[in-house]
Amino acid sequence: MRIAAIVVAAGRGERFGSRKQFEELGGQTVAARSIQAARSVADFVVLVVPDDALDEAHGADAVVAGGETRSGSVRSGLAAVPHEASVIVVHDAARPLASASLFTAVVTEVQQGGADGAVPGVSITDTVKLLRGAADPSAVEVTLPRERVVAVQTPQAFRADTLRRAHVGGVEGTDDASLVEAIGGRVVVVPGDAANRKVTTPEDLDRARALLGAR
Ligand code: CTP
Ligand code: MG
Repeated sequence: MRIAAIVVAAGRGERFGSRKQFEELGGQTVAARSIQAARSVADFVVLVVPDDALDEAHGADAVVAGGETRSGSVRSGLAAVPHEASVIVVHDAARPLASASLFTAVVTEVQQGGADGAVPGVSITDTVKLLRGAADPSAVEVTLPRERVVAVQTPQAFRADTLRRAHVGGVEGTDDASLVEAIGGRVVVVPGDAANRKVTTPEDLDRARALLGAR
């Protein structure tokens, strides 16, 4: 076994209003759809769920309880990944429209490109400004060069040893790549997919249903 996937589905869905990962989307749950896409590259898929939802696998090989934060949930998943896996791909259950080819692209980049991690990124059309922060929260510090800015998605693929090292010490980040960057790892960006939006609100799920219907 060489490639394992961790699909994180232990969130509360506060902005959605319920556990969006278990909503129905085109005849299966959002989580099941995400797992199915992960299967296109992974020999073993770990699903991470809230601790009262351990009874349904949604097609995964192992189901474990998550943590209070997304990073904590990834660590719960890591503990269930077989040690022979050399590449681990981490995916948000809340991105049910990620394609098999996107999984292949990030995994191939790590396997053949030699990076520690590979993530899908899409360019943005708005101008992006960095704010000064606490001292003067509404003031702009600098305008970022847009051609160097990408919005990052999952699936994110990593060398297994690097990802495990990046998670030592219970660190927190909004994605896994940021933790790998923090230990000096080299993360590269591959072209993302505009259709691979995260389901955050009920409108996002409506949009995903419409996109599926149109396929
Ligand atoms: N997630 C997780 N464990 C957590 C928090 C989030 O496994 N403690 C997962 C979610 O289930 C989701 C992904 O991480 O698949 C991205 O998180 P997000 O979109 O923020 O989902 P929720 O945290 O559920 O939503 P909200 O922030 O609105 O409560
Ligand atoms: Mg959240």
